[in-house]
Amino acid sequence: MDELYAICQTFEIDDNDARSFVLKKAGGEDGEGVAWPIIISRKGNNYYGFENACPHQGLQLGAGGAEVMDDEGNFLVCRHHGAQFDIDSGKCFSGPCQGKELTPIAIVVDDGDVCITGVELAEEDGLDLPDSDMPEVVITGD
Ligand code: FES
Repeated sequence: MDELYAICQTFEIDDNDARSFVLKKAGGEDGEGVAWPIIISRKGNNYYGFENACPHQGLQLGAGGAEVMDDEGNFLVCRHHGAQFDIDSGKCFSGPCQGKELTPIAIVVDDGDVCITGVELAEEDGLDLPDSDMPEVVITGD
């Protein structure tokens, strides 16, 4: 089974709301990893993950730290040119990329944690993991 990366706890995202996070994916030219902005949205007790890259021009939905939800909490919105997306399917129903969709990310809820899976992250810093959940690295010389 793919590794699970805990991103936040279930109660940290309200119903009909979404939060954005910037993770670090393994890879990149120098092997140091690449920034990977994502969105996790919630509808009832279901959680949905998407890459935070608008299908219109590839920009992050919430520009300059702006909310990725519209002000009434009905849909995800791209603050650049106003594309609007369903919070569960990620489909754009209005705006310049209507008919396209956000790239989904597999989400697993595990013991109160909202986790992503199916990817390899470069590091887990900033993912709100308690220390006890971090893998221990032992360096030995020979
Ligand atoms: S970049 Fe999102 S609507 Fe243009």
